[in-house]
Amino acid sequence: MSRIVAVANQKGGVGKTTTTINLAASLALAGRRVLLVDVDPQSNLTSGVGQKGKTAPGGTIYNALTTDVPLTDAAAFIIPTCVDLLSLIPADRNLTGAEIELVTLPHREERLRALIAPLRDQYDHIFIDCPPSLGLLTLNALVAADAVLIPLHCEYFALEGLADLVGTMRRVRAALNPALDIDGVLLTMVDERTNLGQQVANDVRQFFKEKVFRTVIPRNVRLGEAPSHGMPVILYDVKSRGAEAYLALAREVMERAAATAA
Ligand SMILES: Nc1ncnc2c1ncn2[C@@H]1O[C@H](COP(=O)(O)OP(=O)(O)O)[C@@H](O)[C@H]1O
Ligand SMILES: [Mg+2]
Repeated sequence: MSRIVAVANQKGGVGKTTTTINLAASLALAGRRVLLVDVDPQSNLTSGVGQKGKTAPGGTIYNALTTDVPLTDAAAFIIPTCVDLLSLIPADRNLTGAEIELVTLPHREERLRALIAPLRDQYDHIFIDCPPSLGLLTLNALVAADAVLIPLHCEYFALEGLADLVGTMRRVRAALNPALDIDGVLLTMVDERTNLGQQVANDVRQFFKEKVFRTVIPRNVRLGEAPSHGMPVILYDVKSRGAEAYLALAREVMERAAATAA
């Protein structure tokens, strides 16, 4: 049975999409069956795995979420990617409209859950890449997920705004998804040469304790370059520090899962 993880933080540019792509690709490289779900209208996840403009036979996540009645069969929306064992439900610009269209549709917060819950036995991991907001698309992701992975850009205001995400998670737990957990907090774009980065990292660890991943993601130009080539960093430059970091994160995720199962 797969674990469904929403990668969320309503701040933009903190490394949500980079983490989704590269953690997922690293897990696939380790033999795990992984599904990516792009619910950001900017569709950076879709282009980051080389599928820009591609649609499945049924269309994109926009089509899957905005039917008259909630869909419970996602098969027509899944496409393969450039990485073995790594599949994708793609997004495109149309998704911008979903945020508004969903408002008047029945079960507007539960559509993504209805769509992907039946896929649990086909994948080991399902990752949902959220947009930089706490609107209906992110809400759908939080309702569909077992847990939330929160990337935090290691800078002075890193913790600012997190209260909103934690508050939204609390409301989702109370109303629609009682078991929603924090999967982990990931420090991203860490610049080890600065004291500030170290200080922020310490603050985050004090606040989130053992929820913070041991692995930290350094600032690395290869991580920034890889998406423009439509590939995860492990395909673009497997020897880079960015690739090493995400491979280490995948190992940590698998260790945690094994420890929980035992
Ligand atoms: N560790 C990193 N080192 C260097 N650049 C990074 C790193 N992580 C992300 N980036 C770049 O920073 C920008 C924002 O990252 P992204 O993952 O798209 O954030 P989000 O999805 O939270 O908006 C992108 O251009 C990405 O390529
Ligand atoms: Mg993104």
